[in-house]
Amino acid sequence: MTKLWGGRFTKATNQLVEEYTASINFDRKLARYDIIGSMAHVDMLASCGILTHQEAAIIIEGLNKVDYKIECGKVELDVGHEDIHMNVEQLLSKEIGPLSGKLHTGRSRNDQVALDMRLYLREVVVDMVEQLVQLQQALLTQAKTNLDTILPGYTHLQRAQPVSFAHHMMAYVFMFQRDVERLQDSFKRINQMPLGAGALAGTTFPIDRQQVADKLQFDGLCENSLDAVSDRDFVIEFLANTSMISMHLSRLSEELVQWSSTEFNFIELDDAFCTGSSMMPQKKNPDVPELVRGKTGRVYGNLIGMLTTLKSLPLAYNKDMQEDKEGMFDTAETLKGALALFAPMIETMHVNKEAMYKAVAEDYSNATDLADYLVGKNVPFREAHAVVGQVVLHCINKGCYLLDLSLEEFHQFSDAIEEDIYEALTPESVVAARNVPGGPAKNRVQEQFLSAEKSITASLSWVQSLQSAVKLDG
Ligand code: ARG
Repeated sequence: MTKLWGGRFTKATNQLVEEYTASINFDRKLARYDIIGSMAHVDMLASCGILTHQEAAIIIEGLNKVDYKIECGKVELDVGHEDIHMNVEQLLSKEIGPLSGKLHTGRSRNDQVALDMRLYLREVVVDMVEQLVQLQQALLTQAKTNLDTILPGYTHLQRAQPVSFAHHMMAYVFMFQRDVERLQDSFKRINQMPLGAGALAGTTFPIDRQQVADKLQFDGLCENSLDAVSDRDFVIEFLANTSMISMHLSRLSEELVQWSSTEFNFIELDDAFCTGSSMMPQKKNPDVPELVRGKTGRVYGNLIGMLTTLKSLPLAYNKDMQEDKEGMFDTAETLKGALALFAPMIETMHVNKEAMYKAVAEDYSNATDLADYLVGKNVPFREAHAVVGQVVLHCINKGCYLLDLSLEEFHQFSDAIEEDIYEALTPESVVAARNVPGGPAKNRVQEQFLSAEKSITASLSWVQSLQSAVKLDG
């Protein structure tokens, strides 16, 4: 097979080399982006007088046909043509003949692949923000229906202090909000246009880079041709941001797995989101959160892999950089699948309020509140802490909880305790008393709802404002 770069070679490429160096088996995913980029490039070449308008029109029509044929699977993409860029050019030559040879004027695969990656990733990022917002909305809905649902908050996985389930859900809403903001911030750096950098040192043709950037709705131009072709920071940033998202999803997954165990029994995931056991008929397994938790490993792996590939690479392009794609695709698809499942799984999750309340009532998680009560009666906190420790020990030995003690028993430990202690130590009072900004008291959680809703509205309008720019529907 004749290579597009075959001129200086006297021998055919070794078959194994051909297969080893080819990227077509994975970069075929970039076909649409590659073709749209080529169209913008050709359009610009014509308006700069480098090609005639007629030539550009023929090339663009040919590219449209190639796009269509790739999309419908009507053409074979060939390892012999190495990558998507040369496959497209080869297919174009079948459509329009030797004129296809003018497409690559003033361009290199090095700036071309950087362009394709950026076009791909900016679409992924906008879609991912939208999916994250859908998850936030599902969490927010659960929070709103569970404003009065009280459960133990944990530290060291030991019951610590009561909170509301709403408060717990909102913690995740804010975690995912930071993820949204990180993706949005990274978008600015993804959305810079590299074409015109050529192989590394620009081009001698009088091209108009800005025109290409405008046509493809980029925010600006990569400012240095060497940097433009060797920069994969935007890929690493994506892999880092998605690692953080995976970590958040994994923490939530872990809680869902724990909570749906018989030991906790705090939630039940909908049947549609669980699977059974082939041997044990009684089992209903939380496979989805488990697998999301498990896939965190490959997402982190893709980040470390890319960081390592880029480490020590001299400027500018090196073939090592072809390794940038599979991890990026894998992470994008892994996250897309996880987020698509998570929003409806959270939405349909049944919350077992009684079990949560029982876990709070049959526990000492109101002990801090007894100490705070004593502080209110002018006992220094340290002393109060010690007194309550003894009260708790007394209860443990007796096999009861704080609210089961009589006033006489309380008085064995402190005279400052009065009748109003029974009201002060109920789970409801304990949560309501934590009335500080960011706290679990109802009005404070409602403040969180408002703030989250504002952020969600802002994210949705960000998505809307970019969706048409980044969607390449040909
Ligand atoms: N397939 C290559 C990649 O994905 C495209 C750029 C190749 N450039 C080159 N000079 N060999 O990185």
